Amino acid sequence: MPKYKFLPLITAFAVAAGILTPLVIYDNLRFETVRYVISHKNLPAPFNGLRIVQLSDLHNNVFGEKQEKLLNAIKAEKPHIIVITGDLIDSDQTENAINLVKGAVKIAPCYYANGNHEIRTGRYLSEIKPALIRCGVKVLDDEKNYLEKDGEKIAVIGLSDLCGGEEDQRRALKTLAENEAFTLLLAHRPERFKLYSDCGVSLVFSGHAHGGQFRIPFTHQGVFSPGQGLFPRYTEGVFTRKSTKMTVTRGLGNQVIIPRLNNCFELVSVTLYKA
Ligand SMILES: [Fe+2]
Repeated sequence: MPKYKFLPLITAFAVAAGILTPLVIYDNLRFETVRYVISHKNLPAPFNGLRIVQLSDLHNNVFGEKQEKLLNAIKAEKPHIIVITGDLIDSDQTENAINLVKGAVKIAPCYYANGNHEIRTGRYLSEIKPALIRCGVKVLDDEKNYLEKDGEKIAVIGLSDLCGGEEDQRRALKTLAENEAFTLLLAHRPERFKLYSDCGVSLVFSGHAHGGQFRIPFTHQGVFSPGQGLFPRYTEGVFTRKSTKMTVTRGLGNQVIIPRLNNCFELVSVTLYKA
């Protein structure tokens, strides 16, 4: 009966494909809004209740006509500010990313730090950055801006991936965060959490890991992410080290044609309180 030798294997493969295909399609077409309440002892009192929506790793993904579904979800959070933590795009096409930021700036002030995929295009400084600025986004390339309320202020710092080197980033961030009472940091790479913490940042917004691409069922454990390798630690959620907290989002898109599994796209909404 040699011709039936592979029948059990073929049957098992067909059953697995039949179960997984709808799940993969379902996971790669939807996003969920994940809300965190974060308290920090250094937050100036006037900023109690500050709501921040984070967008990351869109990779040109589309959610409705001109990003309508995503923009409606952002609006529903009633954010005071929106932070964008890189990888809005990853190819020649920028229309979907621009549609998103054009809508986002009408909801709240938008702050942006780039990711490795914008840099990889070779057109970040000549095209992408100017286009974002024209839309009204505050682009922070190793720069900072301030939110001010009732005589108090907090610094919003954007760390650029342009050089990409850890030591370059450490030098830049140390200078930017120095003497600031409370700092929000937009930094694409979560695997450098220790660096951000060493520089005394209060709250980091990060992405890049895409939730580990495939997540093991009934866990929050991802399988792989760039910069962290197999079974990465920082793929989603809130992390604490000394007086630094970091949110990591699973992001809103895929960088490669490999789909996600058990790992839908994510919009993060953070409300800050004084501890
Ligand atoms: Fe990404």
